[in-house]
Amino acid sequence: MKRIAFVLVLALLAVISLRAQQPAAAPTFPGQAFQPGPREWAFPVITGGLPPEQGDQKVPGSIKTYTPQQIDDLVNPPDWFPESHPPAPALVSKGRGGALACGSCHLFNGSGHPESADLGGYMADYFVQQMQDFRSGARKDAARMNGIAKDLSDQEIRELAEYFAQMKPTRTTIVKEVSMAPKTFVGGGRMRFLDPKAAGQTEPIGLRILEVPEDVERVRHRDPNANVFIAYAPQGSVAKGKAFVESGGGGKSVACATCHGDNLMGLGNVPRLAGVHPAYLGRQLFLFKDGTRNGIDAQLMKKAVAQMTDQDVLNISAYLASLDPTKTTATK
Ligand code: HEC
Ligand code: HEC
Repeated sequence: MKRIAFVLVLALLAVISLRAQQPAAAPTFPGQAFQPGPREWAFPVITGGLPPEQGDQKVPGSIKTYTPQQIDDLVNPPDWFPESHPPAPALVSKGRGGALACGSCHLFNGSGHPESADLGGYMADYFVQQMQDFRSGARKDAARMNGIAKDLSDQEIRELAEYFAQMKPTRTTIVKEVSMAPKTFVGGGRMRFLDPKAAGQTEPIGLRILEVPEDVERVRHRDPNANVFIAYAPQGSVAKGKAFVESGGGGKSVACATCHGDNLMGLGNVPRLAGVHPAYLGRQLFLFKDGTRNGIDAQLMKKAVAQMTDQDVLNISAYLASLDPTKTTATK
């Protein structure tokens, strides 16, 4: 009897861990036709690559020059405008061991890319809690943030949190509702691009939000002054998302501003949602739902997401991303 119970528990654990791994374990098919799954828009998987750039690169307004290898160096990323941000803790610009430099994936102003995260303007305490959750594994991002957080001291985390907390949120997303979207693929760094081999061709948007750089070259160069993405979203998604967010899904959830503050600009340690990359937002809602994001404060999100459908997640993400975070301020 004991044996059977033990086997059952093991089987259950296996099922649970399989489920927990699902998003991260999505397969890569380099060079093959790729059939996106229903949540692939929020969990990008590399399916191709853009031709590598050659020679020295520049961005408008900066006197600096970097090679493509330097631009993509995750321990020593380009700082195009050192005078435009306060002095940064060493780890923003120089990585060490498993602690890759924050400035590479999140940029020096924290505005981030759709596949990473916007770090601009959060309360330092929220930031510190997330780093502790990554470190303990209560929040999972195995390929990146778990290893990074493990290699940082408490003191370093606090300094990084204070640095990014000073940043003003920027507008990174322009949502365009469409029924047919341009053909795209996910390239290096898990960033989505228009497919140059299918220029002018379209396909049904389906249940997806597809974010591509407004200016490919400048985004590839990690230029913080052009970190803008066009997010193609299904027709009607923004209005449906707005209705859900404001009413709490008509009883399915809770009105988001109750905790996330006026204009969804954040309230104390509860983070800003307005103007955040939609792929990031969608990913977090899925991760809260399946328990992959399970830190101490994530418990407060459990009820809010419990009854959300995949379509609700998409609509909410499209609406929140469409808000301009430079137009309003947070309630402190
Ligand atoms: C190789 C890319 C990469 C580097 C380098 C990187 N990050 Fe991240 N970071 C990510 C990704 C991807 C996520 C989103 C994880 C998820 O979807 O849950 C993230 C998320 C975060 C979050 C959560 C934001 C939120 O709104 O909850 C924080 C905080 C963070 N990173 C801090 C840092 C700090 C500090 C550094 C430098 C020491 C750093 N990151 C370096 C890729 C990176
Ligand atoms: C009871 C309070 C509460 C309500 C209501 C609530 N949230 Fe949250 N939310 C939180 C807290 C607290 C966190 C931080 C969780 C953590 O630390 O892991 C959070 C985090 C999030 C995040 C992750 C942000 C990031 O930067 O990583 C998203 C997305 C989110 N909430 C969306 C929503 C939406 C959409 C609604 C409304 C349908 C909502 N929340 C309603 C308390 C709430």
